[in-house]
Amino acid sequence: MSSSTVSTVVTNIATLVTNDPSLGDGSPLGVVRDAAVVIEGDRVVWTGESSKAPATDNRVDAGGRAMLPGFVDSHSHLVFAGDRTEEFNARMSGRAYSAGGIRTTVAATRAASDEDLERNLTRYLDEALRQGTTTFETKSGYGLTVADEARALRIAARHTDEVTYLGAHIVSPDLADDPAAYVALVTGEMLDACAPYARWIDVFCEKGAFDGDQARAILTAGKAKGLHPRVHANQLSYGPGVQLAVELDAASADHCTHLTDADVDALAHSRTVATLLPGAEFSTRAQWPDARRLLDAGVTVALSTDCNPGSSFTSSVPFCIALAVRDMGMTPDEAVWSATAGGAAALRRDDVGRIGPGAYADLTLLDAPSHVHLAYRPGVPLVSGVWRRGARVL
Ligand code: NIG
Ligand code: FE
Repeated sequence: MSSSTVSTVVTNIATLVTNDPSLGDGSPLGVVRDAAVVIEGDRVVWTGESSKAPATDNRVDAGGRAMLPGFVDSHSHLVFAGDRTEEFNARMSGRAYSAGGIRTTVAATRAASDEDLERNLTRYLDEALRQGTTTFETKSGYGLTVADEARALRIAARHTDEVTYLGAHIVSPDLADDPAAYVALVTGEMLDACAPYARWIDVFCEKGAFDGDQARAILTAGKAKGLHPRVHANQLSYGPGVQLAVELDAASADHCTHLTDADVDALAHSRTVATLLPGAEFSTRAQWPDARRLLDAGVTVALSTDCNPGSSFTSSVPFCIALAVRDMGMTPDEAVWSATAGGAAALRRDDVGRIGPGAYADLTLLDAPSHVHLAYRPGVPLVSGVWRRGARVL
């Protein structure tokens, strides 16, 4: 490569996680020691050993630290207003989590101005970016009227390409007595208003939200409008969500806490990623999803935050990695893969979640010699540098 084409070379990276198994140690993480990364514009154009890096004036010394792909948080609910501290307090005093709390956020979100919603969204995005997240998905689901759902997606679409229409979060309180009418709205006028802003359609398939038949009707209608399905599946109880996700070739079945052997088998023989969201189990004191069981069966696993004001109010992927390693049977390498390449798979993307030629230059630098420190040093703010689309933002 001629140095005239090089924008920036980051050198002296003690441990570089590329997620390219053909590089380095041959593991899925493709770890290269004493590495360098060359960025041109918004892309990575070269990775390899520091000693072979092309010479350039624009050189950043990583100081012998670890670099990994920016985290891909493939599941969040960030267009909301209000606060549910009281509900959290009650849970920590023994009350069970229920989807009913969603109504509290729906009321606050409907009452908020566009400016307030956008300010709230950008606050949590900035928070996530400082913790190494460079790609995020986010959903509607706290409006539940045609206008409020469309507005949530319009605001989200200003900040990410990964926008999900979740009109089917719960049956709107306005139509609580007539769920069929709400499903008709979600698959009709609301879908028409929302589809232009969204890439994905999601349903909360759960007792107290939408059953399997309703969820199938909603996702099928979305597919007919060009949206791709993903499903909140098997979070609070066993149910049809995972099987439905596989049947419809959903990119991801999210939560996957209560799984039968048949559910695990279906996932293992599909393209559908199991996205695990340990912040939700942490904040609802629920049983952990069994990542080990899924991995041993050959299922592709992603790890994300589920950041929302009710069940999982954390924007921190490093925190989720630490939980997954401590309580869900994942190794540190598996958890880091799931939070980067796994998230990319859950969004069916190959331009994020890896560090290699053609990928976006989305890079996270840790104040640590190895990515393992993300689990080894839980709760410590290790992220000390972030590049997003080639620009250094931290
Ligand atoms: O993914 N499960 C449904 N939705 C969210 C929770 C939303 C809320 O409690 O406000 C979740 O956990
Ligand atoms: Fe969620």
